[in-house]
Amino acid sequence: MPQHIFLETNSSGQTKKFAGLLASVIASRKRSNLKNALVLALAGDLGSGKTTFVQGFLRGLGVRRKITSPTFVIAKSYKLKAKSYKLGYHIDCYRIEEPKELSGLGLKEILNNPENILLIEWPERIKKILPKDLVWIKFEYGEKENERVLKFKQ
Ligand SMILES: Nc1ncnc2c1ncn2[C@@H]1O[C@H](COP(=O)(O)OP(=O)(O)OP(=O)(O)O)[C@@H](O)[C@H]1O
Ligand SMILES: [Mg+2]
Repeated sequence: MPQHIFLETNSSGQTKKFAGLLASVIASRKRSNLKNALVLALAGDLGSGKTTFVQGFLRGLGVRRKITSPTFVIAKSYKLKAKSYKLGYHIDCYRIEEPKELSGLGLKEILNNPENILLIEWPERIKKILPKDLVWIKFEYGEKENERVLKFKQ
């Protein structure tokens, strides 16, 4: 049975703060995987907080540029201020039906570079081509209006 860690947040600010903290912990740790990119798969319904999480995460890695949803362009990249990582890719697969639609992006090369971090919204759409050792986070609505629950698969 897969184990889950649950995190409850009660505002978008709290989600961003947590994401930023997680990012700085990740960036300051010695890497265990030096062969491939770090992949965070962000699953969950529309409006569940995935982009909000990405904004906090990339801010935590020194990105000062405005971070907006890449729904139409599919992917955006950001220079990072972190020791072991150089580029952060924010990828939104909402409009993707088949992994091959991403072929123009050079995803294979991006995934093969250990200096990259990928934050992928709607990851189930391209699950076939994602590495097995990713961090899977499921975003769910909580009972209260601004409550969201982040479920980390172990
Ligand atoms: N606890 C919370 N965490 C994150 N966002 C929250 C929270 N409470 C309210 N919100 C609001 O919910 C919305 C989340 O939108 P966001 O774009 O992050 O969702 P998304 O999961 O990326 O959706 P989509 O699948 O459409 O890309 C924002 O308007 C945000 O302000
Ligand atoms: Mg989004």
